[in-house]
Amino acid sequence: MFAFSKAPSASSTYERVTQRFQDGSNKLRAAIEMDELTKTNGTTDEKLQTAELYKQARQMLKEANEFNIMDIPESKRAEVREKREKMLNLEKSAQERLIKICNEVDPNMKRAQTAGPCRAARVTPRPTRATAPTPLAIAQQEAVNRAALLKGVDKVIGERLLDEILDNTGVRMDDVAGCHSAKAALEEAVILPALNPNLFSGLRQPVKGILLFGPPGNGKTLLAKAVAGESKQMFFNISASSLTSKWVGDSEKTIRGLFQIARNGQPSIIFIDEIDSILCERSEKDAEVSRRMKTEFLIQFDGATSSPDDRILVIGATNRPYELDDAVLRRFPKRIMLNLPDNEARRELITKTLKRHNMMEGLTSSDIRYVASNTSGFSNSDLVALCKEAAMAPIREIDRSKLSMTDGDKLRRIRASDFDQALRTIRPSTSDKIMSKLSDFSRNFGC
Ligand SMILES: Nc1ncnc2c1ncn2[C@@H]1O[C@H](COP(=O)(O)OP(=O)(O)OP(=O)(O)O)[C@@H](O)[C@H]1O
Ligand SMILES: [Mg+2]
Repeated sequence: MFAFSKAPSASSTYERVTQRFQDGSNKLRAAIEMDELTKTNGTTDEKLQTAELYKQARQMLKEANEFNIMDIPESKRAEVREKREKMLNLEKSAQERLIKICNEVDPNMKRAQTAGPCRAARVTPRPTRATAPTPLAIAQQEAVNRAALLKGVDKVIGERLLDEILDNTGVRMDDVAGCHSAKAALEEAVILPALNPNLFSGLRQPVKGILLFGPPGNGKTLLAKAVAGESKQMFFNISASSLTSKWVGDSEKTIRGLFQIARNGQPSIIFIDEIDSILCERSEKDAEVSRRMKTEFLIQFDGATSSPDDRILVIGATNRPYELDDAVLRRFPKRIMLNLPDNEARRELITKTLKRHNMMEGLTSSDIRYVASNTSGFSNSDLVALCKEAAMAPIREIDRSKLSMTDGDKLRRIRASDFDQALRTIRPSTSDKIMSKLSDFSRNFGC
């Protein structure tokens, strides 16, 4: 199974992230200042020093980004999300500048681009004891990796696609409650083959298409993000909007480019969320563009899955699997339903959610069992909403005039009766009609 790591305390994670973010931003500022001074007349040595500063700034910003959002106190999450967005942009601009400087310092770089395909864009060579790489060598390697990934791909489209690679989502398998069969399938398709690829050949070849389906809010997207966070493979997070609206007219090229990059950098995973919105049943009413895009997808998918040497896994997620084209379904031999949680899974999710926020103290295990047994039909996201609603009860009891002076530690603990109250406002979001359609589909096509 996936390695489950222990969650650090909420406030310490927040402080660490903020500190690393600050350090990374300061380092980047120093790099930019030096860059400005040495850009036109700087010596090679000075440029290498600048490159080193950019490299350190990138590393700090990367490290600042390695956290699980659930480990951040809820009140700080919006702020941290905003920081994360900024960090990604800063890190990217530092990388671009770093590559430019290295190209200036060593104009022969391009020759190196003929090197063989790399494992993934983000993989930086490990320093050996004998020859630790210089900043220049690392930046060169990254440029080579990028060039190798984009081999045979339209440059503009390729660069945009590389932006869709998810490096660190901050979500771990341990954050996903229940979903045992889906976790096991993903482990078999992603983690085990990476440990010993030779064992997974011929009939034991890992499955190349996995469809996650089920009612909304039960962890399809969350699970895919956990795979991205824990697997060491290149992970593309593709949505309908990234294939259609953003690049109108380029959809076919984009799909071709996507599979080509995935092939260049394999082993890799392509995750297509809300896949029904791109690959629903083809019909006469379809616009020409959309029909061509679907056909291209099927061709590329076939190419990637029929070659025994290619190690590309496509994961699709949808809550409307019955709208998928038959030809698409055929390409996902493993179709796993992430169903509404049963009593045991509800208990697990409520416990995890409360523990993560240090709010279990006032509740006994029989309280949790009571809540779990009264929430039949709730999805996981409904249960998270229920916990949030219950957590608000102690706050609502405080007089408004005293709210600003109230210390969080002095609030009363959550009680079982808070859940009773919350159950009056939070109701299940999944209708019987949807459930019966999904169950029919699962009976006929699921596995
Ligand atoms: N198995 C789970 N374990 C922990 N939290 C969960 C789980 N499933 C859902 N959640 C909670 O619900 C939220 C929504 O889940 P997610 O986005 O994965 O749902 P989904 O199945 O992709 O839904 P949709 O079909 O609407 O896209 C998550 O951010 C998380 O807070
Ligand atoms: Mg989703």
